[in-house]
Amino acid sequence: MIIHHEPVLLNEVLSFVTSHEHSRIFDGTLGLGGYSEAILKNFPESFVFGIDRDNQAINFSRERLKDYGNRFYAHHENFGNIDKIENINSFDVYMFDLGVSNMQITIPERGFSFQNDGYLDMRMNPDENSMTAAEVLRVTDEKTLAKIFWEYGEERYSRLIASAIKKSKSPITTTAELVNLIRDTLPAPVQRKMGTHPARRIFQALRIYVNNETGELEKLLKALKICAKKNSLIIFVSYHSLEDRLVKKNFREWQNENLGKILTKHPLIPSDEEIKSNYKSRSGKLRAFCINSD
Ligand SMILES: C[S@@+](CC[C@H](N)C(=O)[O-])C[C@H]1O[C@@H](n2cnc3c(N)ncnc32)[C@H](O)[C@@H]1O
Repeated sequence: MIIHHEPVLLNEVLSFVTSHEHSRIFDGTLGLGGYSEAILKNFPESFVFGIDRDNQAINFSRERLKDYGNRFYAHHENFGNIDKIENINSFDVYMFDLGVSNMQITIPERGFSFQNDGYLDMRMNPDENSMTAAEVLRVTDEKTLAKIFWEYGEERYSRLIASAIKKSKSPITTTAELVNLIRDTLPAPVQRKMGTHPARRIFQALRIYVNNETGELEKLLKALKICAKKNSLIIFVSYHSLEDRLVKKNFREWQNENLGKILTKHPLIPSDEEIKSNYKSRSGKLRAFCINSD
C-alpha cells in the first residue's frame, strides 16, 4: 500500500520559519514527516525533533528521514505532555499540524475511514487506555452520543443518528456498519443535499472524542506558554473551528499578558490552487505567534 500525505500550507510554514532563527525545530505532530523533511531539506543547518502520539507515524518518519542522520530525532509522545520532554525550552520553532494523517485514514484496520471497512477503532495510540470508537458507541448513552456528534461534528441530525445507534439490534463494531446505519437513517434528500459523504461528520466527531483531541490541545497550549523558549516562533495549523478558536483565544491571552506578539491578524488559509491539488487542505488555518525575547 502506498501511503502519502500532502503537507498542508507548507509554503506558508516555510516562509515563517525562513524569517526566524531556525537552528532547532520542534515538530509536535510529525505524522509522515512532511513538514520535517521540508525543513531538513531547506535549512541544511537545522536539527528537527519530532513527536507523534501514533507509533506507526514515528516508525514511518524514522525510516523516511533516516538519511538526515543525527539532524533528525523522532520520539513517541503525546503533545499534551510536552512539558515532560527534556530540553523542551531549547527550540527556535514549535510547529503543530493538528488532526489526522493520511496514513491513519488510509489503513483500514485503524478504523478512521468511512471509505474502507475495518474495526471501528480510531485510537491514535492504543496504549493510552482510551476506548475504541466501537466501545464508545456501545457504552455511551443516547443523549451524550448526540452531544458528541453535535459538538465535534456539527452534525444537524445528531439526535436521529444517536437514537438509531442505540436502537440497533446488534452493536456497531465496524466502519462499514456505521456508514450503513447513517445511510439508512438519514432521509435520501438530506443525503443528496449534504455535498459531502453522509458519514463524514460523525466519523470526525467520534475521532475527536476517542482521542480527547481538544483536551490534549488545551493541555498543550497551557504548557507551551510556560515552556517555549524566549524569542521562539509558534505555528499551528488546524482543521476544525473548535481547535482554531482555542488557538486564537490562547494567542490573544498570551499577547494581552505581554508574552509576545500574534503574527497572523487573520489566519492564513490555503490558496485556490492548493485546494485544487489537495482538496483535504480546504479547511486548514494557520496561526503564528512569536514569544518575546526578554
Ligand atoms: C495532519 S498530521 C501531521 C502531518 C505532518 N505535518 C506531515 O506533513 O506529514 C497530524 C498528526 O498529528 C498526530 N497527533 C494528533 N494528536 C496528537 C497529540 N495529541 N500528540 C502528538 N501527536 C498528535 C497524529 O497522530 C498525526 O500523525
